[in-house]
Amino acid sequence: MAVAEGLAKTRRGKEFLSATRKMLINGEWVDAASGKTFPVYNPATGEELIQVAEGDKEDIDRAVAAARRAFDEGPWAKTPPNVRGKILWKLSQLVEENADTLAEIESLDNGKPCTMARAVDIAGTIEMFQYMAGWATKVDGRTMELSTPGTFGFTLREPIGVVGQIIPWNFPLMMAAWKLGPALATGNTVVLKPAEQTPLTALLLGELLQEAGVPDGVVNIVPGYGETAGAALSAHPHVDKIAFTGSTEVGRLIMQAASGTLKKVSLELGGKAPNIVFADADIEAATAGAAMGIFFNQGQVCCAGSRLYVERKEFDNVMAGLADAGKNMNIAPGMDPACELGPLVSDVQLERVTGFVERGKEAGAEALIGGEPVGGKGYFYKPTVLTNVDENMEVVREEIFGPVVVAQPFDDIDDLARQANDTPYGLSAGIWTSDLSKAHTLARKLKAGTVWINCYNVFDPHLPFGGYKESGIGREMGPEVLDLYTEVKSVCVML
Ligand code: NAI
Ligand code: MG
Repeated sequence: MAVAEGLAKTRRGKEFLSATRKMLINGEWVDAASGKTFPVYNPATGEELIQVAEGDKEDIDRAVAAARRAFDEGPWAKTPPNVRGKILWKLSQLVEENADTLAEIESLDNGKPCTMARAVDIAGTIEMFQYMAGWATKVDGRTMELSTPGTFGFTLREPIGVVGQIIPWNFPLMMAAWKLGPALATGNTVVLKPAEQTPLTALLLGELLQEAGVPDGVVNIVPGYGETAGAALSAHPHVDKIAFTGSTEVGRLIMQAASGTLKKVSLELGGKAPNIVFADADIEAATAGAAMGIFFNQGQVCCAGSRLYVERKEFDNVMAGLADAGKNMNIAPGMDPACELGPLVSDVQLERVTGFVERGKEAGAEALIGGEPVGGKGYFYKPTVLTNVDENMEVVREEIFGPVVVAQPFDDIDDLARQANDTPYGLSAGIWTSDLSKAHTLARKLKAGTVWINCYNVFDPHLPFGGYKESGIGREMGPEVLDLYTEVKSVCVML
């Protein structure tokens, strides 16, 4: 038995990890045209887990051609909305039946605690497919009495066509679900490129899509690197829309690549969210929320509460609680059922986080806890709280994407609002207070796509998610996501 197989507990997981994984094009599992494969690592050990077919431009071409056919003349164009809805519901059931397998593969591939993968990623995937299954039969247009005599107008909502979807590594399966769910509900066809660090659950989902009855060519899954497969997909002339989640830097590249054929673009990018604790808050809840807001998923969350602002008279109190919470976390491989903090996703990410904190310390920041890698095998980084920071430091301005929070006291609410908004990002924010008026007033002032009041990281398929400013374009989930996957056609009739 190969090493990787032995790591899985479920029968399907063992089977899945027992062989090189292929890519899904036109309903068939195929090798890369080049014959190349690339390694996928277990971040808890740094050891190779498995080899995966390495997609490149030629494979993207094949996948786009299959998606094009499935959309223009193939089965998807003829599949009625209720059947699309039933397929999505069936898919949610298959994800549920295979939840343990998906959770263990996600944990081995990404490093996250298996228990969290099950409770958050897999559960969120099921919810999303179910929510979008319901929307399949509810997409409609408007009718209009127009002012030109004798005319009648109405709108049709049509699928956009072939959609390219590029997925990050922090929530590999759930990000695939956020994009596949609405694309399929509204009748598009898809070429999906998972992140090179974590392609496995998307490939397993490919098997479930087939079992659910998604016709050949409707969803094609091409693993590979960003600079090759990703770039080819975002520039492809026969792709009508590109949806991306990842770094702001690559978001810019994708917009440029998409500009050639003026593809529709939706982007969900980085963040540097202010999490704001007023002295009148339930301090225990706020402290727990601050810890969860930054340490959940090893801090590799675009909406992580990475800038903590605490009203001065409670600052020391919150810092003490946060330090305790961080120090007490059980750091272990994700497959350990007691794991609370797993490794970062890769050696590259460990280096990136280490570099940010080192430079922060050189600039004068103090590590109240952590401030360094765990050391030894795997890509573990200690939960870290940086104090003595100011608003111009790199650690306060840049997305670190690790379990690292910068904490600052504040005195004045207007200056706080200014500081909270003093960032190119605008994905999310948190407010902790028992004063209703303060909470609502500040929520309106914050330039962020999501504001959590007395909670953090609450997600729901009905709650749209996306960014202001350089955190992105468009809203995923909620009815708003339908706008990202449909064109509006106005029809005007002379009666
Ligand atoms: P990335 O943005 O390079 O990777 C995300 C996806 O984009 C992957 O599928 C990758 O293959 C693809 N990609 C990369 N270059 C591409 C290109 N030129 N054309 C098309 N697709 C391309 O993120 P990376 O380098 O892994 O992480 C860097 C930083 O990005 C992190 O430290 C974090 O700050 C941020 N990030 C934000 C995420 C979010 O959820 N908003 C998710 C992942 C990373
Ligand atoms: Mg990159």
